[in-house]
Amino acid sequence: MSKAQTTPTTASDPTVAAAAAQFLSPVVLGLQALTVNGKQAHWHVRGANFVGVHELFDQIVANAGAFADSAAERIVALGLPIDARLATVAEKTAATSVPAGFTKSDELVSNVIADIDAILVDVKAAIEGLDEIDLTSQDVAIEIMRGLEKDRWFLVSHIAA
Ligand SMILES: [Fe+2]
Repeated sequence: MSKAQTTPTTASDPTVAAAAAQFLSPVVLGLQALTVNGKQAHWHVRGANFVGVHELFDQIVANAGAFADSAAERIVALGLPIDARLATVAEKTAATSVPAGFTKSDELVSNVIADIDAILVDVKAAIEGLDEIDLTSQDVAIEIMRGLEKDRWFLVSHIAA
């Protein structure tokens, strides 16, 4: 008589999965918020370097979406769900610095940088917290940090002396 084969949902230890979810979930939610608030900035920028800033905001939105996908799929690959519904994102992320309405480009660039900096706090916490728990999840966070810091550089170069 053959023994029924059961395939585990995930190859990972439950402790590892829980830690990855704990540290990567805030990163996912912050990045999802940036995809929405970055579009707000994309639509309402006015003034100096309009075309460049308008297009850069769209690139930052696209990057944020890709980073969020990468972090969310790491959690799911470890067997856990993530609640990234819009109401949950709104409840658990800090208020955006992006205002409603048309805004001058220098101000809006600073606002989006402030939003990115808030996300970077969670990304750094993930890198540190995952260091002795799961290097593969940490690698996801490190890649996101590299990308976000590059986007931050592109933004800050518009307003730096
Ligand atoms: Fe557009």
